[in-house]
Amino acid sequence: MSDIAISDIEAIRSRFQADIDAAIDLPALDAIRVSALGKKGEISMMMRGLGKMSPEEKTIMGPALNGLKNDVAALVETRKTALENEALDAALASETMDMSLPLSRKTGTLHPVQQVMEEMAVIFSDMGFSVAEGPDIEDDFHNFTALNFPPGHPARDMHDTFFMVPEPIGEEGAERPTGTQDVGEQKVLRTHTSPVQIRTMMSQKPPIRIIAPGRTYRCDSDQTHTPMFHQVEGLVIGEDIHMGHLKGCLMDFVSAFFEADVEVRFRPHHFPFTEPSAEMDVRYERDGASIKIGQGEDWMEILGCGMVHPNVLTACGIDPDVYQGFAFGMGVDRLAMLKYGMPDLRDMFAGDPRWLGHYGFNPLVQASLESGLS
Ligand code: PHE
Repeated sequence: MSDIAISDIEAIRSRFQADIDAAIDLPALDAIRVSALGKKGEISMMMRGLGKMSPEEKTIMGPALNGLKNDVAALVETRKTALENEALDAALASETMDMSLPLSRKTGTLHPVQQVMEEMAVIFSDMGFSVAEGPDIEDDFHNFTALNFPPGHPARDMHDTFFMVPEPIGEEGAERPTGTQDVGEQKVLRTHTSPVQIRTMMSQKPPIRIIAPGRTYRCDSDQTHTPMFHQVEGLVIGEDIHMGHLKGCLMDFVSAFFEADVEVRFRPHHFPFTEPSAEMDVRYERDGASIKIGQGEDWMEILGCGMVHPNVLTACGIDPDVYQGFAFGMGVDRLAMLKYGMPDLRDMFAGDPRWLGHYGFNPLVQASLESGLS
């Protein structure tokens, strides 16, 4: 070992220092540490050579080598900390999220129909209703027969039903449905949400208190009709339920929905599945292009309702001598237009982003009775 002079020590230190400074990552740094201080590392080997030195050499080289070893170890530690900090900074920089940035202007909006259905759900859930659902493609039984529209009943004609094409039979191709005639397993696009009344009464025992929002379909299109539209059905079944409950419930609903005292009137009407039946109108006034609800001399029909017909209760296995109930069905799209002032129903389903940007609602704001519905 005597071939290593004290003057070499400084050169070795500088070389390791340069290597350590140049290490680009932790594995590279560790390789340098092993090459210097590992069992067979350069500095370890030199220290091992101390044993063969003369006592004079040892007194000089011993402390010098120890100093070198400690310096190199300290350099490695310092560089290690620096590399770890660099890695952390890089991770923080690449994974960062700037919470102060404004929301993108392209944020989507809630469709007014969705908004209005949520507002209705908020109002009715406050009255103890829960939400039920049924399929858009219904069978004849749920859409008509169980609702007291017997096969061939003229009221079926008024529904402008879309019939589904049945599966092709044999080689002749599809057999076409024949309009209002009863064709057994004939499927239809539901013409109203009332079939959800049937599904609910057949699967739940009274007392029942549900609303059923959803899509409905009729073959009709003009400024106030679209082939697909939305309804919210309501159904309450219990003992001692009477028309007074129906009126009170719907009067409370319209006032909460329009957030004003709204005068209503009930007009006798006919639906096969309710007896007696009525339509409910709200007082309104047209002021140029806009419509004011709750004032004026005109009346606008907004929903159909009535006491559930005993035949319907019986079809669902509910004893009409024990239970009574009321039902109602309202057009959501029409109520959305009235409340938020959209002029043409057809625009609602055109999917125009400019229309949605204008009439849509902030999806992050939830309707509630306490903080306002919209
Ligand atoms: N289903 C009826 C319609 O679509 C509305 C309604 C529902 C009427 C419930 C009475 C009771 O016109």
